[in-house]
Amino acid sequence: MTNVVLGKELWKRYNIGEGIQVHALRGLNITVDEGEFISIMGPSGSGKSTLLNLIGALDNPTKGELFIDGEKISSMSESELTKMRAEKIGFIFQTFNLLPALTVRDNVEFPMRNLSRDKKVDKISRIKRAEECLEIVDLGHRMDYLPAKLSGGERQRVAIARALVNHPKFILADEPTGNLDSEASDNIIKLLHHINNEGTTVIMVTHDKEIINNTRILKIRDGVIEPE
Ligand SMILES: Nc1ncnc2c1ncn2[C@@H]1O[C@H](COP(=O)(O)OP(=O)(O)O)[C@@H](O)[C@H]1O
Ligand SMILES: [Mg+2]
Repeated sequence: MTNVVLGKELWKRYNIGEGIQVHALRGLNITVDEGEFISIMGPSGSGKSTLLNLIGALDNPTKGELFIDGEKISSMSESELTKMRAEKIGFIFQTFNLLPALTVRDNVEFPMRNLSRDKKVDKISRIKRAEECLEIVDLGHRMDYLPAKLSGGERQRVAIARALVNHPKFILADEPTGNLDSEASDNIIKLLHHINNEGTTVIMVTHDKEIINNTRILKIRDGVIEPE
């Protein structure tokens, strides 16, 4: 079985000016198998978001090797990376990141516009798929709404539908319940487990100990993962 994510000796250094550098990751190793549900925990500033950005191919490691779904990231061109992100990765953020001027349905349909030519489908099929994903997150009755009319929990469910729309290999979620009350959090976590049970790998960063049951917990500190 290929690993969904394999990071070997990952270093990430930020230059913050005047010759000062921050070492956010210090030789971190990570393996994620297909079908896992991973929770990444650790103090603020320990490198969690940096790691998620690398795994999402949104940023490059300073040193080390990273494979996503068996493909070596450093040997991919910018356009190959864009295609890989669109086709293999679903992103969920603490702040939802929905497009305010688009309806719920159009927000979910949007990532399908980035598919490569061989996977691209017509608008009618895209809308159908978007609606299917909105049914999965139980928002069939909110398709024509603008995000501003929704509760936080509903907005995050839209973001989950959007993350699912291209049948991703894995979902990256950075503090997905950080802005939600405990009932809405519960709902989001149940949904992520449902998606995971259907076969999608989930990698989540969180502070919240209430939501990490039945996941594999990775603790990160000072840019490395602590032994399990
Ligand atoms: N874009 C950046 N430029 C400079 N320093 C950064 C940047 N992003 C993160 N850092 C620094 O890297 C370290 C790890 O940050 P981060 O990955 O955001 O941690 P976490 O998500 O665990 O709170 C921190 O010291 C942070 O200040
Ligand atoms: Mg963070």
